[in-house]
Amino acid sequence: MNDVLVLDNISHAFGQQPIFDNLSMSVSKNDVVSIVGASGVGKTTLFNIAAGLLVPSSGKVFINGKETTGEAGTVGYMLQKDLLLPFKSVYDNIALPLTLKGYSKAKIADIINPQLASFGLEGLEHQYPQMLSGGQRQRAALLRTYLSDNPIMLLDEPFSALDFVTKDEMYHWFSKLQKRLELTCLIITHDIDEAIYLSDQLYVLKGSPAEFTQTFSIPKCEGFLDSQDYLNLKKQIFAAIQS
Ligand SMILES: Nc1ncnc2c1ncn2[C@@H]1O[C@H](COP(=O)(O)OP(=O)(O)OP(=O)(O)O)[C@@H](O)[C@H]1O
Ligand SMILES: [Mg+2]
Repeated sequence: MNDVLVLDNISHAFGQQPIFDNLSMSVSKNDVVSIVGASGVGKTTLFNIAAGLLVPSSGKVFINGKETTGEAGTVGYMLQKDLLLPFKSVYDNIALPLTLKGYSKAKIADIINPQLASFGLEGLEHQYPQMLSGGQRQRAALLRTYLSDNPIMLLDEPFSALDFVTKDEMYHWFSKLQKRLELTCLIITHDIDEAIYLSDQLYVLKGSPAEFTQTFSIPKCEGFLDSQDYLNLKKQIFAAIQS
């Protein structure tokens, strides 16, 4: 079995408001899976359940075959508004998960320093977050999430706060990084181009209670992104979200 994350028959309600009714999905090792869906449908709630921060009314979460329902610290999680702490340097922000694990300063430096260049942060580590561009801040938050060293990264709208050009650069950069570091990722996004570019699978979350109404496998063949098939797929995904 190659599934890193399995959500098995998840149901949840906030008071009288049902959010999910028997929702299931899985993410395979080294895959990127995107979830798209309207605002308020329950995407972040599903991430909180997968991350063990919220216990679902029923259903189970498995990471690498082990049940982790309600158990925090099992995934790398980049929150929707992942603000770096303004009073800590970029380096100290990145070091946070390692500091919490009780690692020595020398060990933390050995882990962080070799990664700074890949994440485009070399020379910026002693700055404070407000001195960085939006893209640089996102890369610092991604490095911090990566260093939590868990089998899967959950990224809640990782590039949505960025302008169009920076966003485009970021997801191209991230796609290369994901392949090189063999990351397994579950990503929430509202950007269909981004979702197609990054993902192997795309799930459409819809309705109340929400369900995965459609899933798409994204072709990875050469030239796909310049083809008519790409435009057709994009239209199908739009239609699936809106219908
Ligand atoms: N802790 C909570 N208590 C009560 N209701 C909540 C709680 N968290 C979320 N909700 C409600 O659950 C629904 C789903 O919220 P959620 O944040 O998961 O949506 P989302 O799909 O991530 O939306 P967006 O795209 O705007 O981020 C919303 O109606 C929200 O108001
Ligand atoms: Mg959300």
